[in-house]
Amino acid sequence: MRSWVPFVAALAALSPATASPTSMDQWDVLAGKALGNQILYHYTNPEASSTCTPYTASARREWGALSKKERRDYIDAVLCLSSKPSKSDPSFAPGARSRYDDFVAVHINQTMFIHSTGNFLTWHRYFTWAYEQALRNECGYTGSQPYWAWNKYADDPVNSPIFDGSEYSMSGDGAFVPHNATEAAPGIFLQPSNGGGCVKSGPFKNEPRPPPPKSQDPRPGRPKRHRPEL
Ligand SMILES: *[C@@H]1O[C@H](CO)[C@@H](O)[C@H](O)[C@H]1NC(C)=O
Ligand SMILES: *[C@@H]1O[C@H](CO)[C@@H](O)[C@H](O)[C@H]1NC(C)=O
Repeated sequence: MRSWVPFVAALAALSPATASPTSMDQWDVLAGKALGNQILYHYTNPEASSTCTPYTASARREWGALSKKERRDYIDAVLCLSSKPSKSDPSFAPGARSRYDDFVAVHINQTMFIHSTGNFLTWHRYFTWAYEQALRNECGYTGSQPYWAWNKYADDPVNSPIFDGSEYSMSGDGAFVPHNATEAAPGIFLQPSNGGGCVKSGPFKNEPRPPPPKSQDPRPGRPKRHRPEL
């Protein structure tokens, strides 16, 4: 008979999905139930893996629920990945300069086949896992890839933990440049806000790093830098 101790301990160890209990929403409750079910299933199913357990599985957490140190650890790992040279075949990703770019290049290459398609979830799940592995194995990151519950911050994104421009954020939305609304999808217009220009503050202000001098760099056409995807 399996012990219930791990089950109870694992439940107790569940980190809250949100920074403060007041911002707990129905999705957090649903996610908590799903995790509870998974733990129950694991410890009552005789065939459950003994190596992949609720203890060893990587627990994705919401950005706002991470401590400042945890946010900084993640940011530093992303900066590290972006300081390491690309491993892509230049014929596949001529613009890739860094390991970070490698992931951007793969996503660009696959874009038309992984959105609005049945493989959307599985592809992105695997892609996120591969990116997390690179952060861990190549940059010593010991946390998990966080996620962004945008619904929590939709009313005030500028002051949210992910966009507040602090050194624990994704660096804000850049310097202001005048711009009109952007048509995000047919008929859906995103109104202009206070940013739109280059990122000049926050941890990603020096990204992308300048490309190497031309003599060392036969590959033109660096792709536009995407912000790290959470
Ligand atoms: C993706 O990469 C493959 C292999 O290099 C290439 O044949 C294909 O044209 C690329 N597709 C796009 C959309 O870039
Ligand atoms: C915004 O749209 C108006 C009307 O089409 C145009 O005259 C103006 O140049 C646009 N401004 C910018 C910054 O694109």
